[in-house]
Amino acid sequence: MRVQTMIAPIVMALAISMAVSGQENSEKTVKHVPVKPTSPASGKEMFANYCASCHGAEGKGNGPATAALKTPPANLTVLSQKNGGNYPAMRVASILRGDGDLSAHGSKEMPVWGPLFRSVSAGHEGQVQQRINNLTNYVETLQVK
Ligand code: HEC
Repeated sequence: MRVQTMIAPIVMALAISMAVSGQENSEKTVKHVPVKPTSPASGKEMFANYCASCHGAEGKGNGPATAALKTPPANLTVLSQKNGGNYPAMRVASILRGDGDLSAHGSKEMPVWGPLFRSVSAGHEGQVQQRINNLTNYVETLQVK
């Protein structure tokens, strides 16, 4: 019988922490740290761990890592407003999956989540889909009325 080997997922970029050096050299950098496992059932938990550092706890685009980014993180509370009052769920999901949309606009600062989620979910495609769905639904709850 073949011995199954599991390669521990080593992932970069996710939770972002700020490393701010002393006063003389006050250049801010975004430090990429390994992905923290979260429950795929909780969009809220995933958002807090994976998105809030840039997009802010309420999705308004004012997270602590913002100062270190060249492209300001999008205000995620106005996605419906900017789309004629309809929440663009398909577009959000495809951005998260990494289907292109956003990278076509040339941003390298918005992480591509698909591969990262695949890693935290140890390759279980169903769970990756669940993560993307729950995050997409959670972002919908942040929309301004
Ligand atoms: C390292 C910072 C960073 C993190 C972490 C991050 N984003 Fe972003 N995000 C950005 C930036 C910067 C943009 C704007 C990119 C652009 O306009 O080209 C963006 C854009 C987006 C957009 C497109 C908005 C629009 O107006 O089209 C969505 C949706 C989005 N992010 C969702 C998320 C979600 C959900 C998470 C967590 C899973 C997340 N982001 C984590 C930086 C980040």
